[in-house]
Amino acid sequence: MTTRIPLMAGNWKMNLNHLEAIAQVQKLSQYLTDAKHDFATAEAAVLVPYTDLRSVQTLVDSDNLPIEYGAQDVSEHASGAYTGDISADMLKSLGVKFCAVGHSERREYYGETDALVNAKVRALAAADIVSIVCVGEALEIRKAGNHVPYTVDSLKGSIADLSPEELAKTVIAYEPVWAIGTGEVATPADAQEVIGALREAIAEMYDADVADAMRILYGGSVKSGNVAEIMAEKDIDGALVGGASLDPEEFSKIVRFADHA
Ligand code: 13P
Repeated sequence: MTTRIPLMAGNWKMNLNHLEAIAQVQKLSQYLTDAKHDFATAEAAVLVPYTDLRSVQTLVDSDNLPIEYGAQDVSEHASGAYTGDISADMLKSLGVKFCAVGHSERREYYGETDALVNAKVRALAAADIVSIVCVGEALEIRKAGNHVPYTVDSLKGSIADLSPEELAKTVIAYEPVWAIGTGEVATPADAQEVIGALREAIAEMYDADVADAMRILYGGSVKSGNVAEIMAEKDIDGALVGGASLDPEEFSKIVRFADHA
């Protein structure tokens, strides 16, 4: 029997400055508190721009909010002459729990490869930050029917040679590129097909217990109206939410998916 606790992570992308971030997290927390959300049944996290992190940390700490927070990217380097980069240790010092790695927008616009993603995951694991490793295929790959092997390969490259301890500090997110920000949701069965294959690949690389403990999220046009059917699939352990996470009431309903199952 699995003990995976669902994780709903809102990826704000490049939206909301630090003042807006404070208001947003306050509202989200209020909606969840008013609804008496039990965080043991689903964790809620926001992945915010770097410039929002200090403000979100201060708010979460001072008001003792049960919301987790994280970043959207990290440098693979520990420190040094890497202008513009942010290290895993810098994130750690801001209390960051999660960090997205290899989001399709970074892979597409900044040429991030599985090997680079792998280096970033290691840097985060060394700082005790949980990576949310993103993989997913473009529309042409799906149309050609190669979405399962493509995504499995990308996962294998992204988590290559991680120790079981390092792997325990990762979450995986399957985000088909054609479903991101398009309103085009993969059907629950589409998402389950790939996510089930990712779990099997982890079982082959490690063992069944490691695979069983791994949280694998779905991302791509998730909303309160479709989250329950997605979460009903046996291998899907949460969602990585873009657009809908910018509306705190809507995101609170996604976190409370069990209410509208
Ligand atoms: P949307 O929810 O806006 O489709 O974005 C998904 C995503 O990219 C989350 O990382």
